[in-house]
Amino acid sequence: MLNNETILVFGATGNQGGAVIKTLISESERENKKITLRILVRNPDSDTVRAMQQKGVEVIKGSMENPESLQKALVGVSRVFLNTTHDKYGGESWIVEKERGEAVIRELIKMKHLKQVVYSTLPSIDGYSEGAGKSAVEEQMRKANLPITTVLSPFYFENFINVWPPIRRWLGVFGPLQWGWLPTGKELRMPHGSVDDFGVVVANILLRPVNDYLNRQVTVVSEDLLLTQVLTEMECALGEPIQWKPMKRNVFRCLPLPKEAIAGLEFYADALDNHSEVEQGFLISEGIGAESLESAMKETREIHPKIQSVSSWTSTNKKKITKRSLKKTLVSAMMVWARCKSLVVNAR
Ligand SMILES: NC(=O)c1ccc[n+]([C@@H]2O[C@H](COP(=O)([O-])OP(=O)(O)OC[C@H]3O[C@@H](n4cnc5c(N)ncnc54)[C@H](OP(=O)(O)O)[C@@H]3O)[C@@H](O)[C@H]2O)c1
Repeated sequence: MLNNETILVFGATGNQGGAVIKTLISESERENKKITLRILVRNPDSDTVRAMQQKGVEVIKGSMENPESLQKALVGVSRVFLNTTHDKYGGESWIVEKERGEAVIRELIKMKHLKQVVYSTLPSIDGYSEGAGKSAVEEQMRKANLPITTVLSPFYFENFINVWPPIRRWLGVFGPLQWGWLPTGKELRMPHGSVDDFGVVVANILLRPVNDYLNRQVTVVSEDLLLTQVLTEMECALGEPIQWKPMKRNVFRCLPLPKEAIAGLEFYADALDNHSEVEQGFLISEGIGAESLESAMKETREIHPKIQSVSSWTSTNKKKITKRSLKKTLVSAMMVWARCKSLVVNAR
């Protein structure tokens, strides 16, 4: 463990950065380490940020687009967790992410005492724009000879609560659970894991001697499962069946949602249609990381032995996963509407 170092975490109000800073706070409290934790946030007045501040985290107001705030946030920093994001899906939106990353790189290269940047990346696969911005940023970091460790984040289990939860058949309230929000087939194989556990892995990397993971890529994965296996594991842990009812393209195109949201679903359908490419993408590590998901799982477990499986995670989060909510009722109503509309459109 390190002493007298300052770690800067980007995106601390989000899923990944939030999970990283949570572990860093508890580890530094537990080990009584003299580490300074710092975050750069766009809104320092939120309750989440205030709670972190009360735990001793230094807060800098700013953004990746604001060089002065980046310079302020980087004073005295030795290690960084960086996660870049884009605001929209598909098309050229990845360029925004690349530009955000480049703005951070411009400041990182000026630093004299920087020891390690842990960058959350994704594979660069044709047509998979989600990874395009990240791999461009990664490439620039390598060209600039920055001391990086890349971490490939898994498909979050938390998506089964926040993004694609199973929803009860009748208006989200009655009947069996159905799962089909995700426009893909059951055969998709992806690295899965809880974003909380991703945070534990990244925090552990940041707390270890720099050389342990410098110029390496860590694919964070709890389990390498087909969606069909995820479904079975979740059914067992929930103690009730989940019907598989994926949304067809002609249905989701009729959803009463803004164009941008439909483009988001199109993006997932396109990316996941060619799933063998997505699956392979997670293994391409050019000699810097694990060569199979099996060895990636082993490595992840070495760093974080208590990592949750989909089964243990589902058992812990049973209530959240099956909770009835107005949002689920609205989603269910929208899907009924889209199915009816698609029948009319197709009949024309
Ligand atoms: N969902 C999955 O299963 C999955 C799996 C693997 C990888 N990913 C990747 O994960 C990324 C999203 O990460 P996440 O889930 O942690 O996102 P998130 O929860 O939306 O958090 C994004 C964070 O970045 C901050 N941020 C956004 N724009 C910023 C800017 N211009 N300057 C400074 N900070 C900025 C946000 O701050 P504010 O609070 O100010 O908004 C927020 O803290 C995506 O690129 C996605 O591709 C997702």
